[in-house]
Amino acid sequence: MAATKTYLTGIQTSGMPHLGNYYGAIQPALAAAESNDTLYFLADYHSLNSVKEPAKLREDVRSVAATWLACGLDPERTVLYRQSSVPEVFELATVLASVTAKGLMNRAHAYKAARDRNEAAGGTELDAGINMGLFNYPILMAADILVMETDVVPVGRDQAQHIEYTADIARAFNHLYGESYSFPVPEGAYPEGTGSILPGVDGRKMSKSYDNHIPLFMPENRLKKLVRRIPTDSTPVEEPKDPDSSVPFQLLAYLGGAERADGIRKRLEAGGMGWGELKNELFDEINGRFGPMRERYEQLVAPGSELDDILAAGAARARVRAAATMAKVRRAVGID
Ligand code: TRP
Repeated sequence: MAATKTYLTGIQTSGMPHLGNYYGAIQPALAAAESNDTLYFLADYHSLNSVKEPAKLREDVRSVAATWLACGLDPERTVLYRQSSVPEVFELATVLASVTAKGLMNRAHAYKAARDRNEAAGGTELDAGINMGLFNYPILMAADILVMETDVVPVGRDQAQHIEYTADIARAFNHLYGESYSFPVPEGAYPEGTGSILPGVDGRKMSKSYDNHIPLFMPENRLKKLVRRIPTDSTPVEEPKDPDSSVPFQLLAYLGGAERADGIRKRLEAGGMGWGELKNELFDEINGRFGPMRERYEQLVAPGSELDDILAAGAARARVRAAATMAKVRRAVGID
């Protein structure tokens, strides 16, 4: 039997996940958890670089953890924890910084993009407004991954450079200390296809940064309003319509499956269905699918729920693994 591989991914804690996150990240990650050793963590110290409101940071972490659990993450099977609960991550980040070339960090996409924005804005200090947390982000991410001796990191394509950096940093460490200890060199697992699977309400890829997203667990009445407000043209009910240029149709086809989509396509093309009815169907589909999960979500985000115990148990398991790695690392570098 092949040895089990360890899968790890970091979940950004930037507000309640949306439908695009569900189909693009949550569902595939839950499927991977069926047959692998999986660790999924909430990257709260990464969020600290951009979120400066303590109440929001706190709330986002709970909301994201509750979402994954409500969607079916089994905390017995997957180690679910907050990054901040595992101090070994930060200790390892210090060790990794000592084997990482600053030039490598200078070339990191997120850092370069921030400098480019300053340049485009006509600034002379290209590092203006850039904090050291952003600069060090790739090292912290490498520590997240390496401290758990990860083999595979499922992430979006936008994270490919971070994974390459992690592999480079691991190799640099292994080159120096490999006689005593070597990290497994991890690889990224990227989604197939273009990645933009679900359109947002304006037809562009669904994304929080475009503000065109449908949050997964919006209260029912607000969800209904949001769906009713998806822009459509003014073709009257009895006239033929083009389903493929309609966002509600695309969403319904994705969620409801091919057979259902075929029936609705025929009615729209024949002028037998108005946009209003289509949107009602879409609302029913989203609500029917996510309504039961929303109930579970609401129990979990409520203060005093079992969420805190679940995260504490995950943190304890995560720390056992992280401490074992750190003991080997400390011995290898001579700090023991
Ligand atoms: N940078 C990742 C993102 O933006 C989140 C993340 C932090 C992560 N640490 C990680 C992902 C470790 C995978 C492994 O999505």
